[in-house]
Amino acid sequence: CGIVGCVGRPNETLDVLMHGLSKLEYRGYDSAGVALANGTVDIEKREGELENLEAALEGIDLGGPVGIGHTRWSTHGPPSDRNSHPHADCEGQVAVIHNGIIENFQTIKDELVAAGHEFVSDTDTEVVPHLIESALADGASPENAFRAAMERIEGSYAIAAVFAGGDAVYCARADSPLVLGVGDDATYLASDVPAFREFTDRVIYLDDGEVARINAEGWSVTTLAGEPVDKSVHTVEWDAEETGKSGYDHFMLKEIHEQPRALRQCLRGRVDELGGTVELDELDEPPRPTAVQFVACGTSYHAALYGAQLFQDAGIPAQAFLASEYVTSPPPAGEALVVGVTQSGETADTLSALREAKGRGARTLALTNVVGSTVSRECDHVIYIRAGPEIGVAASKTFASQLAALNLFALATANGGDRDALGALRDLPSEVQAVIDDSTAAAVAEEYLDAEGYFFIGRGLNYPVALEGALKLKEITYRHAEGFAAGELKHGPLALVTENTPVIAIATGDDELARKTVGNVKEVEARNAPVIAVTDGQSDIERYADHVLPIPETHPRTAAVLANVQLQLFAYHTAARLGRSIDKPRNLAKSVTVE
Ligand code: G6P
Repeated sequence: CGIVGCVGRPNETLDVLMHGLSKLEYRGYDSAGVALANGTVDIEKREGELENLEAALEGIDLGGPVGIGHTRWSTHGPPSDRNSHPHADCEGQVAVIHNGIIENFQTIKDELVAAGHEFVSDTDTEVVPHLIESALADGASPENAFRAAMERIEGSYAIAAVFAGGDAVYCARADSPLVLGVGDDATYLASDVPAFREFTDRVIYLDDGEVARINAEGWSVTTLAGEPVDKSVHTVEWDAEETGKSGYDHFMLKEIHEQPRALRQCLRGRVDELGGTVELDELDEPPRPTAVQFVACGTSYHAALYGAQLFQDAGIPAQAFLASEYVTSPPPAGEALVVGVTQSGETADTLSALREAKGRGARTLALTNVVGSTVSRECDHVIYIRAGPEIGVAASKTFASQLAALNLFALATANGGDRDALGALRDLPSEVQAVIDDSTAAAVAEEYLDAEGYFFIGRGLNYPVALEGALKLKEITYRHAEGFAAGELKHGPLALVTENTPVIAIATGDDELARKTVGNVKEVEARNAPVIAVTDGQSDIERYADHVLPIPETHPRTAAVLANVQLQLFAYHTAARLGRSIDKPRNLAKSVTVE
């Protein structure tokens, strides 16, 4: 979910909130709602994307100098008008928005119902306005009532509330992101900076257990118990335009095209090619691990699988774990460095795995895109991938930048100067540009719009690329797709292969891995499946392929990045032709802050 708040722009509050929500839709789009406080609290909310709320607001004068807004990714209760946020108490004195999960909501709800409170939604959130209402009835001030509610709830939350007749927004965080924006005449709050970046570049990142009050005069931050907290104001380094579509049909296409620039930013100032060394300023003391465990989810997990191979190649035992499984069955951490790979830095499963690792005495390192994110503050070390904001729910440029940053990390800590790899990294941005410029993925995609399913195969570093190619296709086309280690295809999945299931095979270089992948391609060709080869032309895979998506000849590490660009374009153009909601695929959210 995404939350936003604004105080100090009396005639524009609603516009500011709607603008903020449009920037936060990547966090969920099951419903949206706003609450503006004046003498009363006025709430409008609608199931579905933001445009439904916009339509509902037409002709309505929702005034008020103080307001909050919410865009939802459902956890408790299906998407509906009544489960949309904000939620109110019985008397309509307070409106509350929430991102996260309140674990003890059922106990609290039972008590409140017994005390006569009436609930109208299935959400966990609704207990908060009712808790606040109880405290107000006992004579508490709005601020103390808000604190009392925060003290009572357990779980993860970023919560904000406005009161009838109030001039402030109160907010608090525990395990869900929350950032304040400090403008000249107005103060903002949001789950993420793009929501208010157009209005200010000065931000304050709240920490767990902190409560903030924002009003026309400014802001104050305290602990739950009310002790003042000193906070620093940071300046964000990217512009508001970076969160617009710049003429592209979709954010995802824009972000695919931004990869050369993102990669340059990732590499800038970090590679000394002459000396054959990598400098990562963020690591004051590069950790020299005896073993590395990666934890990550989704696309970042595929990057983690790639990263683990880089360390294994350097002779350091390394493994990648799905973050959600690491917690349930943690391997011995010992002297291992545990690395969380997470674009957003807010994925609850990944944060939880890292906390588990820390609890077991491991050093932790975050590899993330978002400065100031929870992961960057909780880990012992952090490496930023510097990809710039990514809005499309399906990750594209951040995956490429994660792979580049993992190379830098492995080179800095594991095997010192590998001039071939460094040279290949230097050339990577322009090679990605060339692949984008010359790609025929759109035409190839066109031929298979009616396919029954798609299989992606690869070995070695191209295995995570096969997994990522399949995930991307699933996410944005809603078509069935699977990625396999090429050698595994014959151990079961081959039963699914027919003339209606294209097999996308990634074979780069001319080593044993590539030759074996070509062997696997022959197996599918013999079953009449169409073959799309992603290749640098070094093996003879082209002989067995119906289509070729070429990439330049390069180091195996960078070949994986280039091959992935072709797969991104294949998925994008398939989804575009099928008319899918590419930037906001159904049921998904970019940043999942619940386990
Ligand atoms: C969500 C997104 C995925 C993403 C995953 C991990 O599920 O829909 O695209 O890969 O979270 O996100 P992270 O921010 O941790 O990389």
